[in-house]
Amino acid sequence: MNQKSPVIIGEYYIIPENLPADGQLRLIFQPIDMTTYWSRCGLTANFVAGFYSYCYEASETKANSLSTIINELLENASKFSKAMKGKINVELKQYGNLLRIDVLNVASKTLRDSFELFVNRLMSENVEELYFSTLESKEDGDTKSGLGLLMVLKDYPVRFGYSFNEIDSDTHEITVRAIINVEEI
Ligand SMILES: Nc1ncnc2c1ncn2[C@@H]1O[C@H](COP(=O)(O)OP(=O)(O)OP(=O)(O)O)[C@@H](O)[C@H]1O
Ligand SMILES: [Mg+2]
Repeated sequence: MNQKSPVIIGEYYIIPENLPADGQLRLIFQPIDMTTYWSRCGLTANFVAGFYSYCYEASETKANSLSTIINELLENASKFSKAMKGKINVELKQYGNLLRIDVLNVASKTLRDSFELFVNRLMSENVEELYFSTLESKEDGDTKSGLGLLMVLKDYPVRFGYSFNEIDSDTHEITVRAIINVEEI
């Protein structure tokens, strides 16, 4: 077996992997669970956000922000999965005021390649400029407008890391990791 090591982009390892978390929560579902009832992304995001936010002051605003961020990650993982019966893993770990959210989905090579390109643009270009130029070129009724992540990056203090892991030539595990300081949102 000649397994390639994952491609890591962005702030993936800013929390040491061996640091014990104060708490953790895991959810596993299939893309089809969400794509047949899209409102489940919002419901799940609200549940997860509420689960953590009550630990903090001003919990309602924090819950709303957390929910928006998590919702976007769940929608993307569901939309861009290779197989509707594939798996989506959501793992949350809390380290004091830091919340680490990992959303893993399995994508085709085409989707992986285009996401990797997109992520590299995020790293090298100005997020606001990218947001507004994407907004201008957007067509009405577009469900893949390419604005979701840019909006999160523009509006919330989230640090993102990405892992692209080739399982076989057309099967790629993608993890989007969001690290949020709950004091800042
Ligand atoms: N989890 C993922 N797996 C594979 N590709 C992804 C994933 N998340 C995002 N992408 C890719 O990155 C692009 C940008 O994602 P983003 O959320 O910004 O836009 P979108 O989902 O296409 O549109 P919008 O969020 O505005 O409805 C997507 O179009 C898709 O190609
Ligand atoms: Mg999106």
